[in-house]
Amino acid sequence: MSQSSAAYPSAVPVGVDTTRASIARVYDAALNGKDNYEVDREVLAQVRTVAPQVNDLAWANRDFLIRACRFLARAGVDQFLDLGSGLPTAENTHQVVQRVNPQSRVVYVDNDPSVLVHAQALLASNTRTRIAEADIFRPFEVLNNATVRNELDFSRPLALFHIGTLHHYLGEDAAALMQTYIDALPAGSFVAIAHFHDPETAEYSELARNMEDKFIHSPMGSGRFRTRAEIQAMFGKLEMVEPGLVRCDDWWPDGPHLLPLSDVRNCIIGGIGRKP
Ligand SMILES: C[S@@+](CC[C@H](N)C(=O)[O-])C[C@H]1O[C@@H](n2cnc3c(N)ncnc32)[C@H](O)[C@@H]1O
Repeated sequence: MSQSSAAYPSAVPVGVDTTRASIARVYDAALNGKDNYEVDREVLAQVRTVAPQVNDLAWANRDFLIRACRFLARAGVDQFLDLGSGLPTAENTHQVVQRVNPQSRVVYVDNDPSVLVHAQALLASNTRTRIAEADIFRPFEVLNNATVRNELDFSRPLALFHIGTLHHYLGEDAAALMQTYIDALPAGSFVAIAHFHDPETAEYSELARNMEDKFIHSPMGSGRFRTRAEIQAMFGKLEMVEPGLVRCDDWWPDGPHLLPLSDVRNCIIGGIGRKP
């Protein structure tokens, strides 16, 4: 190996395929991150032809995640299982919850090589935060993962996040998938979900359908806009924390909306349920 190649390693981490769009990198591009490639940005360009404000979907989702972290950490939850962590573009779960309680433990789970490489580097010196590699749509694979089991105490309440993830699951049994997770949680645990939404209104349904069509037929291949009933079913019999399952922007907002919400912000909803 020449000296120059050792001194200037490739910017593309080993195992990252820059010819295929990845969910994590498309999301990173929507959040104005730097860990994405032309193939990822092209997915957003296609969706932008029907939804010019498509980046707002990602921001509504990420801002919901941050508020959910703050809410749950302040409510005393100190263990977090964050499924589908994404790239460290914006503020991350561990940063928010460990600011409230430095003792909080966080386990991220993802299967994207870019995410795993970045997380390992970012978390190298954080003894209370780990990343596990598993398929988040295979609950038993996650629940039996050694890192998940070693780091989290399943005899005490924890928070499980499926935020900005389940719309990438194209099966019809998302509620059953979530029920497997819910069954494994101890009483007093919380589940937070944010999901692309078809509002079933004359005003926004067509927008949702058009975005879904673009996402699913793009090289990323996923992005389902489910109905409110379908998304609510993913919480099973959990007790919904106020204000329930609402537009992400309306869930414990940091203040009044100073500007009108863009149309796409009607197409993503989120909520938190508690296991009694
Ligand atoms: C849109 S990002 C959401 C990130 C974060 N939860 C948030 O809300 O900001 C979705 C993440 O889920 C991950 N993901 C998608 N399908 C997955 C699977 N089957 N197994 C593990 N991770 C997956 C992607 O790699 C990506 O990091």
